[in-house]
Amino acid sequence: MCGVFGYLGQSGQAAREVLAGLQRLEYRGYDSAGLCVVDADHHTRVIRAVGKVNNLRVKTDSMDFSSFSTGIGHTRWATHGGITEANCHPHTSQSGRFVVIHNGIIENYADLKAELIAKWYTFQSETDTEVTVQLFEDMFDGDYQSTMTRLVQRMHGAYGLVFIDRDNSWVLFGTKKWSPMVLGFGTDARYISSDYRSLIGLIDDYIILEDGDIFQITSDNYQILSEGHLADRTRQIVDESEKIAELGDFPNFMLKEVFEQPRVLEDVFRGRIDFSSYSLHSDTLAHIATLGIKRITVVASGTSYHSGLLGKYYLEELAGIPVDVVVSTEFKYKKKFVTPDELYIFVSQSGETIDTLDSLKIVKEQGGHVFGIVNVPGSAISRAAGQGLFTRAGTEVGVASTKAFVTQVACFLFLALYLGQKNGLDYRKYREIIDGISKLPEAISTLLLQNEAIKQVAEKYAHSHNFFYLGRAHELVIAMEWSLKLKELAYIHSEAYSSGELKHGSIALIDAEFPSLMINWGGILSPKNASSAEEIRARGGKVVWIIAKWDTNKHIYADTIEFDSLISELNPFLEVVILQLWAYHIANSLGRDVDKPRNLAKSVTVE
Ligand code: AGP
Repeated sequence: MCGVFGYLGQSGQAAREVLAGLQRLEYRGYDSAGLCVVDADHHTRVIRAVGKVNNLRVKTDSMDFSSFSTGIGHTRWATHGGITEANCHPHTSQSGRFVVIHNGIIENYADLKAELIAKWYTFQSETDTEVTVQLFEDMFDGDYQSTMTRLVQRMHGAYGLVFIDRDNSWVLFGTKKWSPMVLGFGTDARYISSDYRSLIGLIDDYIILEDGDIFQITSDNYQILSEGHLADRTRQIVDESEKIAELGDFPNFMLKEVFEQPRVLEDVFRGRIDFSSYSLHSDTLAHIATLGIKRITVVASGTSYHSGLLGKYYLEELAGIPVDVVVSTEFKYKKKFVTPDELYIFVSQSGETIDTLDSLKIVKEQGGHVFGIVNVPGSAISRAAGQGLFTRAGTEVGVASTKAFVTQVACFLFLALYLGQKNGLDYRKYREIIDGISKLPEAISTLLLQNEAIKQVAEKYAHSHNFFYLGRAHELVIAMEWSLKLKELAYIHSEAYSSGELKHGSIALIDAEFPSLMINWGGILSPKNASSAEEIRARGGKVVWIIAKWDTNKHIYADTIEFDSLISELNPFLEVVILQLWAYHIANSLGRDVDKPRNLAKSVTVE
């Protein structure tokens, strides 16, 4: 959450480069944006704007930045203090000499602020961040790194901090703990960013900073201190095959990413499944299979948690291994019983989610086997896990996770097949699933042709204030995932429920204004779902049925969205696509910003 960006390079370029960097980091928070530039004559300019980066761009459009060679910028996801210009970053020290941007939370900021106020410091904002720059100024001993070393001893919490000094335009300095930060080296410029991908095309190589690192960069030198000593961090070469995601002909990234799903489902299995010989290949899983794993715990948040719930279904059904799935925020603080025959799987699209990362570190410290299912290579979770499966979904820009979810589920299915073949999974079932996987990309492409038809049904319900999403077994997980998406994208309340449980209380909510979506591919629980639908209908409720084409019960539903069902294990991949489009069209028809829904950010790096 929050994006920090720094530039040190050519005269006249700083504001332009910082604005471009902020645009690429906007997914990390879009409550407000701001920048500070400095020139060799000790002039600084701080400009801030509430709202998206474009508002900042408009504000700076007619300004002259020709003398400025160094700058920092910030996109904010508000934690402390409302969404106002006074609370926008950057924040400036009392004298105006130091200016800071920050990603994270300073937990003891109130105590530090009280201490500074007692010394006659005055504050312009309600943020926790402002104390860092005031305290830095208060402690400054003439040396950035020695002052920073003492500053970090005073701060509790998470931070990625970048400072600028009005009196020295040739330097940027800062520190990080728990919040991601990368130093990038280009031909004529140096960069700091929360995300390596924001620097692709600008740099040749980069350093991923570690927690506790205190850095100082100039145009021809850099220095990183770790625990008081000079640290020799590896400079990594940029992977030229990585590209900045572009919209192409799509109106937004969410729709583009939904339509990328046939391709990413090919990529995620490429080299892992040989469809002609029905063989599975993974050195990592070959190692995991030797560990004698008897239990698995999956730890994740949000959509990644839901993929873990589907993973539980696959691992229990196909590999016969009992699985617990726990949300990271709860796992982190609960009592743990780490044993050598248990595998801990941490799932994260971004690879940055702080509670998932912290949970992983705790299990690792206790000697547990850890495994990551991560989309972003080089991210904190992928590095800390050391082993796992990359989901290969490519950059996911839309805040709502779509293609990353289906590739996470695909990784779980692959893992379950791999462990299942060692644990006595019926060979016919094993082949049936592999055959089904080979047809999945095409089945999803076919389903996507129904986009317009799904839109028409969805828009009929766009003005409902509440929804039930109903299902049984693994389809309940799809219901949970898409209940989350409807809230996230359309700002409409919805609840996911086991259709069988409804009559134990919640059916009291049903009336003509409270529609239900029933997800059912037609398996053995189909008659039970049909009975639940009848019970809703008897009370004046409407049921929209996400249903296999051959189902004969159509008369009892207000509307149906039909699909060619596959085998039970693979239907979630299809059902989720229908519900992605459902939520997308409702949100779109209500005029929501589907790529950047309100109050959210793509990666959650604060507790
Ligand atoms: C997905 O639509 C959400 N934006 C959110 O729930 C997300 O899945 C969650 O924050 C976890 O993120 P991660 O996968 O990057 O760890």
